[in-house]
Amino acid sequence: MSNLDEWIHNANECISIVLINEKGDIDCKFHPTFTYSIFGDSEVLYGYKNLNIEIQYVLPSMTPELKVTYSDRLAPESGVEPTNVDQTLSIYMRDDRVPENLEPVNIRDIPVLESYSFDERKFCILKSKPSDIGAVMQYLQLFSLLFIEGGSFIDIFDPKWTIYLLYEIKDEQYYLRGYCTAYDYYKWDKEKTDGVRPRISQFLILPPFQKEGHGSRLYNAIVNNFLQDPKVLEFSVEDSSEAFDALRDRCDFQRLKSLNLFTSPEFHLPLSKEWLHSQRSAIKLPPRQFLRCCEIAFTMKLK
Ligand code: ACO
Repeated sequence: MSNLDEWIHNANECISIVLINEKGDIDCKFHPTFTYSIFGDSEVLYGYKNLNIEIQYVLPSMTPELKVTYSDRLAPESGVEPTNVDQTLSIYMRDDRVPENLEPVNIRDIPVLESYSFDERKFCILKSKPSDIGAVMQYLQLFSLLFIEGGSFIDIFDPKWTIYLLYEIKDEQYYLRGYCTAYDYYKWDKEKTDGVRPRISQFLILPPFQKEGHGSRLYNAIVNNFLQDPKVLEFSVEDSSEAFDALRDRCDFQRLKSLNLFTSPEFHLPLSKEWLHSQRSAIKLPPRQFLRCCEIAFTMKLK
């Protein structure tokens, strides 16, 4: 072996995700953030020269196609077994608990939660049960592994899951930009026996579309949906990331501020338990997140 480095690759760098529209035009191309759950903690691929891996997704069905190219592969006599890229990735590219040959999903049939425009571009947020869009969900599961630390496949057929999908609409075609899943936990309340406490589980804006405000739009649309649903008593977030914490704090704080909560005469230190309790049932935040927003408001007042 001449130069050992030529045969070793960082999996995140040599894998590309490519979204392709129905005409075959490339919509966007980006790299995964994490591959440790697929290729091990070192996220390294061995045994190929000039390795290039593309997972191409055809929109809107998200049907994937794996394309692996390299200029040379280590011979069996070398004693090193090259990473079995095709076989390993194929295991994760489709959730095999979903029956094959499901009816294709017509995105236009999924209920629209909210639409918005940004820079003369059109977006919509759709809400569905993952099982109702199984034909798409079977492929979407991999994104949670590739972009969310600690992300895992969800049980598509558990009716307690809801998925919110963010699409950009260009020339009547739907282009995926992000999604969020939430799980309905039971919440006991003596006055409301069918109350739930949804927990946001996986929240993703595809990398090329981050930092354009879509995460905030998606989060606010989901929260408004929770606030309007009388069954939802409180909502929370599972294993958040630093970036998502920042987004959540900013959106929750702005929402409470727009309700004039921080200018109310009762908003002074020490905050009374009665005031906290009376406000919390309407805004549906868990105690810790509500206090966090109050803390941000006090810090800003002091400045
Ligand atoms: N121009 C420039 N900056 C902008 C614009 C704009 N038009 N609009 C918003 N921003 C800024 C915001 O002010 C914010 O700045 P800050 O980071 O300094 O606070 C930043 O961009 C991000 O805000 P959004 O654009 O609303 O959020 P984004 O669409 O980037 O989504 C998210 C954030 C969801 C964390 C995204 O980065 C992501 O998907 N990351 C990878 C996966 C991940 O970590 N998901 C969360 C895991 S935790 C869980 O799933 C429960």
